[in-house]
Amino acid sequence: MNYLGMKRNDVSKTVSQLNLLLANYHVYYQNLRSFHWNVSGENFFDLHNKFEELYDDARAKIDEIAERVLTLRLRPLSKMSDYLKTSAIDEAEGFANDYEMVNIVLENHQILIENMRNVIHAADAIGDEGTIDMISGFLSSLEKKSWMLDAWRARQEEPAMV
Ligand SMILES: [Fe+2]
Repeated sequence: MNYLGMKRNDVSKTVSQLNLLLANYHVYYQNLRSFHWNVSGENFFDLHNKFEELYDDARAKIDEIAERVLTLRLRPLSKMSDYLKTSAIDEAEGFANDYEMVNIVLENHQILIENMRNVIHAADAIGDEGTIDMISGFLSSLEKKSWMLDAWRARQEEPAMV
């Protein structure tokens, strides 16, 4: 039993999902940095700023996830090579157009959202309300960000007025 009253074996499933989330967030973070730098065209100012806002948010989440693993008395993945090996999110090329970049960010969000739901399921099975509370907040916030990006994309898909 650790000071939270949880056994190492019980938390290990949650922690492996949290470490996967940590790895996914690192690759997602770097994809956003790349898009922030490489975006061009008429939507430059909107997306340059939006990608920065998203990677600032991701950076804060990364720290929270790693420190939750430590709170559960296990070790967070800490090496870039481990993140690349573990991540379900692929590294993105920086040379996509603005519309493709938003599509890729939304695909990355889908992977993060599914991963977060799996964290919650694992934590729920052992009554780990602290992890559920933290990740539920991340989940609803990422779902809202996805809605907004999807709304941006929908406008782009409208047929041009003649
Ligand atoms: Fe910048």
